[in-house]
Amino acid sequence: MNHFTAIILAAGKGTRMKSERPKVLHEVAGRAMLDHVLAAAEEAGASRRLVVIGYGGERVAQAVAGRAETVVQEEQLGTGHALLASYKALRDFSGTIMVLCGDTPLLRAETLHQFYQAHQASGAKATVLTAILDDPSGYGRIIRDDFGGVCRIVEQKDATESERSVREINTGIYCFEAPLVFDVLAGVGSNNAQGEYYLTDVLGDLVARGQSVRAVVVGDAEEVMGINARVQLAEAEAVLKRRVLLALMENGVTVVDPASTFVEPTVKIDCDTILYPFTWLGGNTVIGKDCRIGPNTRLTNVQVGDKTEIHFSYAHDCTVGSDVKVGPFAHLRPDTVLADKVKVGNFVEVKNSNVGEGSKLPHLSYIGDTDMGAGVNMGCGTITVNYDGKIKHRTTIADGAFVGCNANLVAPVTVGKDAYIAAGSTITKEVPEGALGVARARQNNLEGWAKKRS
Ligand code: UD1
Ligand code: CA
Repeated sequence: MNHFTAIILAAGKGTRMKSERPKVLHEVAGRAMLDHVLAAAEEAGASRRLVVIGYGGERVAQAVAGRAETVVQEEQLGTGHALLASYKALRDFSGTIMVLCGDTPLLRAETLHQFYQAHQASGAKATVLTAILDDPSGYGRIIRDDFGGVCRIVEQKDATESERSVREINTGIYCFEAPLVFDVLAGVGSNNAQGEYYLTDVLGDLVARGQSVRAVVVGDAEEVMGINARVQLAEAEAVLKRRVLLALMENGVTVVDPASTFVEPTVKIDCDTILYPFTWLGGNTVIGKDCRIGPNTRLTNVQVGDKTEIHFSYAHDCTVGSDVKVGPFAHLRPDTVLADKVKVGNFVEVKNSNVGEGSKLPHLSYIGDTDMGAGVNMGCGTITVNYDGKIKHRTTIADGAFVGCNANLVAPVTVGKDAYIAAGSTITKEVPEGALGVARARQNNLEGWAKKRS
């Protein structure tokens, strides 16, 4: 694959978002818009990536740390001025730069790659990616000559009535040849309706210099949608959501109700798994084959094996094996590992614990900082008392133990293999292998007491 340098313009405030957060950090499908653009550029072959920052620059720089270089545009004087801010960093660079905007989260890497290839193949000094829209309002319009050649781009606010009727718009994505582009850019003025230095003027100026400028029309106009306001943010969310669900369905996942199912693009799901309504899967979640997830389930960064069922539950940063049943109304918290064939039932919370194969936590339990073996049965209402007010302690429960209902295991404590614990016990010291631990007051019946009382 060929390589190019990508420059992502992300210095604008995004006034129309009515937000304190820089526009490009608003999220679509669980990731900042800028993150989507960076990922697409990276995948398309952008071996070097620069982000032009300005408004909220520190936050934006933090968000892209390690993935892109940043250059600062101190004042936001327009898109042309923004590209010029990268000149210092690219002073010695000669080759193709692709300019992108940080507010187009629906772009596909494939589209960018094809666009770059088209630019290379034509040998043009600039190529602009365009789209044909039914409603072009708000965008810059592509003005072509009688032979179809690109003459220039005119912004909506500067356009004449007849220019406004043009439906071919500027997506804000370009390939330029450096250093030529910087040379032209240096001569761009701000004598226009907005008093800004327009990057779009570079194309007309190149044409005037007799350089070849081309336009490539994007296949799917939806992809280049620029987000300027919250309404569009929601529209982009819907498009991405639909895209992800379609890909899942094509790969053999059943989505019972796409309208109420949210899957972030980072999630992987194997075939014959069924997603029930009101399910939201995010982060690095990976789900195996033949699982049933939902209804009403949220999983974030959860690894799930095959043939597992999770319903009406919330799990994050944990691992769930195969043939496991979770829910309804369970909460699996970080660093929980459920082995195969485990059952976690209603109103059970598990945190930072290992639960061995086939163990059951069916009802109303809190299990925290626990190492539990295989085949353990935790009675209803059983709790590991892991916190002494200062630090957390671990509980160890060996294979085959049977913990009676409503027991408290006060950590640090160990329950031996195949041991029993009497219901209602508060266990504070080790129960050896095979023993019965009883820790409760003996029952005393006062015969005829009720009658005497009255
Ligand atoms: C721009 C184009 C327009 C195109 C549209 C596509 C210009 C003059 N117009 O208009 O032809 O149809 O994009 O969406 O280029 N930015 C900076 N610094 C600045 C100004 C903007 O970094 O000083 C960044 C913004 O953060 C944003 C991008 O550039 O990511 C585009 O800016 P925006 O103000 O949204 O441009 P549009 O008016 O939409
Ligand atoms: Ca825009």
